[in-house]
Amino acid sequence: MNQKMIKLKCHVNDKGSLISLESGKNIPFDIKRVYYIFGVKDEVRRGFHAHKSLDQVLVCTSGSCKVLTDDGRNKENYELNSPVLGLHIGAMLWHEMFDFSQDCVLMVLASDFYDESDYVRDYSEFIAKIKKT
Ligand code: TYD
Repeated sequence: MNQKMIKLKCHVNDKGSLISLESGKNIPFDIKRVYYIFGVKDEVRRGFHAHKSLDQVLVCTSGSCKVLTDDGRNKENYELNSPVLGLHIGAMLWHEMFDFSQDCVLMVLASDFYDESDYVRDYSEFIAKIKKT
C-alpha cells in the first residue's frame, strides 16, 4: 500500500502544544506546496482522484475528517481527528475525503506545485493505469 499514518511529535508545555513539519525529517519528501481545505459542507465528499507522481501528507489541524484510499486492489479508511496524525498518500492512490466536521481544517503538504496534468480524475482510467504496472 502506498499510504502510511505518521505520528507527529508534539511539543507540549504549560503554554500549549507545537508541532513542526520538516522536509526529509518527519515529512518524507521536499515540501513545495501547502494548501488547506475548510468550510466543507455536510455530506460533501472531495478528492476522487489519484496523482501520477505527487506525494502528499494530510493533517487535520482542527476538527476531523475521514479518508478513503484505494490502490486498485485494497481500500482502506482512515480517520484524521488530531493534529498529531499525518496521512502520507503516495502516487497512484485513489483517495476521497469525507465526513468533514464543521470546524475541520485539512492541511495538505505536497511534493510539487499544482499541476492538473498530474491528476487522474477518472476511476476507470485509474484502474487501467494500475493494471499496466
Ligand atoms: P479540487 O481538485 O476540486 O479539490 P478536491 O481534490 O479537494 O476535491 O480543487 C478545487 C479547486 O482548487 C480546483 O479549481 C483546482 C484548485 N486548486 C488549485 O488551484 N491549487 C491547488 O493546489 C489545489 C489542490 C487545487
